[in-house]
Amino acid sequence: MGNVVVVGSQWGDEGKGKIVDWLSERADVVVRFQGGHNAGHTLVIDGVSYKLSLLPSGVVRPGKLAIIGNGVVVDPHALVAEIERLGQQGVEVTPQNLRIAENATLILSLHRELDGLREDAASNSGTKIGTTRRGIGPAYEDKVGRRAIRMLDLANKETLPAKIDRLLTHHNALRRGLGQPEVSHETIFEELTAVSDMLVPFIEPVWRLLDQMKRKGKRILFEGAQGTLLDIDHGTYPFVTSSNTVAGQAAAGSGMGPGAVGYVLGITKAYTTRVGEGPFPTEQDNEVGQFLGEKGHEFGTVTGRQRRCGWFDAVLVRQAVAANGITGIALTKLDVLDGLDEIKVCIGYELDGKRIDYLPASQGAQARVVPVYETLEGWKDTTVGARHWGDLPAQAVKYVRQIEELIEAPVALLSTSPEREDTILVQDPFHD
Ligand code: IMP
Repeated sequence: MGNVVVVGSQWGDEGKGKIVDWLSERADVVVRFQGGHNAGHTLVIDGVSYKLSLLPSGVVRPGKLAIIGNGVVVDPHALVAEIERLGQQGVEVTPQNLRIAENATLILSLHRELDGLREDAASNSGTKIGTTRRGIGPAYEDKVGRRAIRMLDLANKETLPAKIDRLLTHHNALRRGLGQPEVSHETIFEELTAVSDMLVPFIEPVWRLLDQMKRKGKRILFEGAQGTLLDIDHGTYPFVTSSNTVAGQAAAGSGMGPGAVGYVLGITKAYTTRVGEGPFPTEQDNEVGQFLGEKGHEFGTVTGRQRRCGWFDAVLVRQAVAANGITGIALTKLDVLDGLDEIKVCIGYELDGKRIDYLPASQGAQARVVPVYETLEGWKDTTVGARHWGDLPAQAVKYVRQIEELIEAPVALLSTSPEREDTILVQDPFHD
């Protein structure tokens, strides 16, 4: 029995929240290892909805330890707000059930502003990414630029001023260039000290804690955010997020070795969606896309933006299976396809008249690929709430089997509604 890492195999919003929550019942520790509060997970437990952005999904379960790893970018004010929001719903988040890596990077107000300024400027030139405007990209830039302020700096008021000055030397030069007023040292100092007392008790060298947990044989669940096609290296660059979203990052983003990442579960929606700009070969900007969007409630949890919708793209998911080393997939939202006469699946692309079986890395080629479809028979009966294969219409089973064959990975879990119990278990990732 090993650990499990959960990743998105498409452009995010595959329904990871429910699966992570479902798996967290079997885990001792749940770890976030990349991204920040650009993620949005909705959990439905006994009819109550919990909306999480930065906190690991396991936090709503009593007796589980939630960890924010070093690979995450943390907006301290958003974190405090999320902790308070959960508190109002009766979920207490304390240092007993949440630990944050001392070396995690902070997102400051100037990152959020810069994200928005760039997006606004890019809107006029048509080069917008369509980010969540949460400051994710600018914060990772500072991390890689070796000038970031990190969680541990909140606990050290003597060294904090010099770090703020160093950061502002860079940012104020940038802001002057963008015609923006400079940010004062006091503004950032106050912004950070306003939350430091609240957050310092959560700080810890989490790599050590995880090492101890591993030695004790505790089960660790790594909770990925976004999806493989938003990965900074493997995604549809530049229309991506600023972190590695693939399974390998679970090790680097938490301070464990690659051997700690056991079963890789790829969360996969039965069709495809994307928020923000960028290529999307199987997009259906027509009544099919509208049907999927309405039936699947495809609106962003974080920004409320309408998601673009399209047919299942087996080429992209097969690529994600390779990039992550996916052991098995959790197929979600199959019920959204109920009632369609026929369903298309993309099985290859044509690029400049040639057939290819992968998405090329070049932006130009990504925009030019034309999907090649296979058409399958739809089904009229409902799949909502199915808990056994026998509850599914024959055509739905055929659709699932066809997906398995095309992506070259088995279905380990099949989710048939947002409710936790409406899940068909084929293979328990913790007992593989
Ligand atoms: P950023 O992560 O805010 O920089 O946004 C970069 C791209 O990633 C944009 O296309 C966003 O819409 C997308 N994105 C970021 N987080 C999520 C997510 O949790 N689900 C889906 N798309 C996301």
